Amino acid sequence: MSEQADLQFIVQPGGKLTGSLRVPGDKSISHRTIMLGSLAEGVTEVSGFLEGEDALATLAVFRAMGVKIVGPDNGKVTIHGVGMHGLKAPGKDLYVGNSGTSIRLLSGLLSGQSFDVTMSGDTSLSKRPMQRVTEPLALMCAQIDANEGKPPLTIHGSKALKGIDYQLPMASAQVKSCLLLAGMYADGETSVTEPAPTRDHTERMLTGMGYPVSVKGNRISIQGGGKLTAAKIDVPADISSATFFMVGAAIAPGSDVTLQHVGINPTRIGIINILRLMGADITLSNEQITGGEPVADIQVRYAPLHGIQIPEDQVPLAIDEFPAIFIAAACAQGETVLTGAEELRVKESDRIQVMADGLQILGIDAQPTADGMVIQGGVIGSGEINSHGDHRIAMSFAMAALQAGGTIQIHDCANVATSFPGFVELAQAAGLQIETLDD
Ligand code: S3P
Repeated sequence: MSEQADLQFIVQPGGKLTGSLRVPGDKSISHRTIMLGSLAEGVTEVSGFLEGEDALATLAVFRAMGVKIVGPDNGKVTIHGVGMHGLKAPGKDLYVGNSGTSIRLLSGLLSGQSFDVTMSGDTSLSKRPMQRVTEPLALMCAQIDANEGKPPLTIHGSKALKGIDYQLPMASAQVKSCLLLAGMYADGETSVTEPAPTRDHTERMLTGMGYPVSVKGNRISIQGGGKLTAAKIDVPADISSATFFMVGAAIAPGSDVTLQHVGINPTRIGIINILRLMGADITLSNEQITGGEPVADIQVRYAPLHGIQIPEDQVPLAIDEFPAIFIAAACAQGETVLTGAEELRVKESDRIQVMADGLQILGIDAQPTADGMVIQGGVIGSGEINSHGDHRIAMSFAMAALQAGGTIQIHDCANVATSFPGFVELAQAAGLQIETLDD
């Protein structure tokens, strides 16, 4: 449905962001609560769950495989775990919409089941590469049929999986997690070595639910044949959703915004590190650990930004934040250079090309490169942007209006509901002059 109607954002120029806000729950952690809670023994109680389309797609998949899941109700979800071998054949194909995390993590998990299943997705997901999971899973003796390396994927169950020692060719938490989940069903040890640290929510949640994971430097290992125990999980607010407000406050004079109870896992804080390098005024308070994940309130006050060479070690730690970082760079004084970020070309859209096109429409000198972008800070004009159905691109250009010379009209925004239900209302409450138009 979201692929047909053209939901547009019409954003008037100017204004500032103020107030204390709570953005919705972390998308990555929400997916994992459903997956691991379903396989656990006992009842897992989740609070702060993201009621966005992506996490709801994962929830629907496990319901279709016979798991009783109550909610979500105001972020509360109760999962009646069926144990490691309690899932049932769904009796229909599984549709995961826009969600790369669902299809890639489930490829591993479902390779360990005793039934066959087919997963498909929307137009964007159907164009995304799946060999990164099907190839190492084949080394584990899984059998998966794909459409020239892309979805739909048919996973043949009842295969005796074998542990592997795998060197990840790219920094990807989805591939790492896929292999660890398959590893729970494999004979012996499965080890994954990452080229650079990526988000470790899977490792943390497995450990928190009593399934041992060994981490030695960049090598993560798991033994097959273990079990999971139900837990109480508080999902922090998503730093990737907080990012839009952080960038908005960082670029708009007079802004002072506090994002409450945001996950600040060290593998996710590239946005804080990069904005600080650009001169942003960011303060953390109320730091605590909840459900094995560090959280804090993040306050951002306007301060002039300057361009930087983005350190490559920050790229995996900010991988979902670059659309918003490009907006910050467009508003900064001087040049910002991003390299080492070729993974952006295979996200929900080609985020290098789509962002460069949009910035150029707004009058910014933004030159795409194979693995990044070179942006000269300048004056943002007005114009019509196509988000290509990419939620994070739509929200990033909405925030650009705070510094624009005229109205910014953004097309194809329905997928904002995949990660950030209520974005428009929260942005309005904070001071963004945003309206929607449904054509
Ligand atoms: C995710 C991992 C990242 C990220 C995605 C969520 C996860 O993808 O971009 O939004 O939950 O594991 P990659 O593994 O493709 O980098």
